[in-house]
Parts: sequence; C-alpha cells; structure tokens
Amino acid sequence: MKQSPYIWKNGKLIDWEAATTHVLTHALHYGSGVFEGIRAYETDQGPAIFHSDAHYKRLIQSGKLVYMDIPYTADELTQATKALIQANELKSCYIRPLAYYGYGEMGLNPEGNPIDVIIAAWEWGTYLGTEGLKNGIRCKMSSWTRLDSRISPPLCKSTANYLNSALAKREAVRCGYDEAILLNTKGHVAEGPGENLFMVKDKQLITTPSYESALEGITARSIRELAISQGIEVTERCLIRDDILLADELFFTGTAAEVTPIREIDGCVIGTGRPGPITQQLQELFFDTVSHRSQTFSHWLDFVTPVKA
Ligand SMILES: Cc1ncc(COP(=O)(O)O)c(C=O)c1O
Repeated sequence: MKQSPYIWKNGKLIDWEAATTHVLTHALHYGSGVFEGIRAYETDQGPAIFHSDAHYKRLIQSGKLVYMDIPYTADELTQATKALIQANELKSCYIRPLAYYGYGEMGLNPEGNPIDVIIAAWEWGTYLGTEGLKNGIRCKMSSWTRLDSRISPPLCKSTANYLNSALAKREAVRCGYDEAILLNTKGHVAEGPGENLFMVKDKQLITTPSYESALEGITARSIRELAISQGIEVTERCLIRDDILLADELFFTGTAAEVTPIREIDGCVIGTGRPGPITQQLQELFFDTVSHRSQTFSHWLDFVTPVKA
C-alpha cells in the first residue's frame, strides 16, 4: 500500500502513522463497523470523486442497518474527503471511509461506545490487474454462499459481512483463480465478493437484483445508465449458474474492479473467451466518463478543486 501523509479522523487530519486504535476497540472483536470504497480519478480539472454523495449516503444507510447513527452528513463527509485529497496532494486515489464502534465497554452491545469515523485515501491501481481489465479474468463458483438478510444484511457494507467475501476470495485465489462468484441461499447467482455481475445475452444486458442478496452497486447503477444511453436493453432478473455459463459475455463491476471482463468459470470458457463487444464498449465509456474525457455524465463527478469557468 502506498502511504499518504494524512488520514482524516473524527473531523481532523492526523498523520498516517498516528491513525492507530486500541486493541480493545469494539469493532476489532465484533465486526461492528461499516465502510465504503470510493475512487477519485485524474481529470483535466484535477482529481474528481466518482459518485461521492451516493457512496456516503450508502455508508449512512449501512450504519442504519446495524443500528449505528453516523455523526456526519453525506455532504460533510464529501467535504472532508476533498480536504484530505488536497492535503495528500493526490491526483487519483482509492478512498476508504470507515465508521466503527471504538474503545469503551466490551460485549456484544456497543451502545455507549464512541462511533469513530475515519477516511483514508491513497494511490491505488487496478484491483484485478491491468491484464484482467484488458483480457478478462478466471473465476471460480464459490463453495461459500452469499449471506442473506436473515443472517446479516446484504445491502450493508458492514465489516462483519466481509468475512463471507474474504473467504470466497481466498478460496478462489488458493485454487488458482482470480475471483469468486457466489450463489445465494436460494441457489441463484448473487455476485462477486466485492463486485456486481452482469451478463450479455443476445445483445441484452442482464444483472441480478438486490433481493438476490447483491449489494446495490454504484458502479453497476452507472453501467446500467451508460448502457441505456447507448440503446442497450437492460434487465434485472434471477440468474442460475447455467445462465452465466451460457452467457455471450460476462463482466464484473465495482469501485475496486471497475469494469472487469470474465473469460472463464471453473474451466468453462465464457463466450469466445475474449472480452465481448458490449463489455468493451461499456468499459471504454466508463473510463471516458470517470476521467471526464466524455462529459455526458459529468454530474457523477465531484471535482476536488472548484471547476474553472
Ligand atoms: C459485495 C459487493 N458487491 C458489489 C460491490 C460493488 O459496489 P460499488 O460499485 O458500489 O463499489 C461491492 C463494492 O463495494 C461489494 O463489496
């Protein structure tokens, strides 16, 4: 990880090395934290945060789903992020906000413990590799099942939920794959451990709805809008494993994964085994949008320094 000079914590910028916590911090023991993953991209107008407001609204909603009232508004957190990016002199970065129950009482109920909020930002490249972005990745159908709302709220980015994701990711990597695909408790396709899944069939774009235990991805929502703007039909429906194995094209979306083609699942080649034309079209449009080369969706970008007239 490439270190930055500062981290924002509870309203102040502090040195990166000083952003430490007590070993009896509640969240370390019980996963009582919620987080976000956001990216800021380099543009002709300086760094721009992609969908900052949507990410911070989702952070606050994640808090609600685990009975945590985050003591900042989405706008305050966006302003804090801008100040952090400026102080760290970053051109582009990955941004990691985290709200967690801190040091106080021990026990399952964190009521009364402080809610600490941090935002870190650092220079970060691709999540699944530039080779993966270009030529596609190999996935494993996970032996782990994506959690559902009777177990832990799947629409919530709680730190505790990510044991499920981490197990799926680690199993896939240990078996020689790049990434996992998880089924839900109904046996339907849910998503990747940190990505939403899209398939292309007969030129139509199909993805799984949130009631199939897929996180409501902000990148996924953007890709759907970009697809519609290109006249591509978009459908949300339940998918079974057979559907995705027989897809013409398959790809992941996510803040970390951006738009990553999938070329193989468990030794079964998807489509031609190369990123398909619709995947490539949407990937190109996505990168043009986040870097402000295409300005049709520039309202998705939050420029860190005021835009020049
Ligand atoms: C489980 C899961 N699904 C999907 C996504 C993609 O969501 P987004 O595009 O908002 O980053 C993420 C990443 O936040 C995730 O953790």
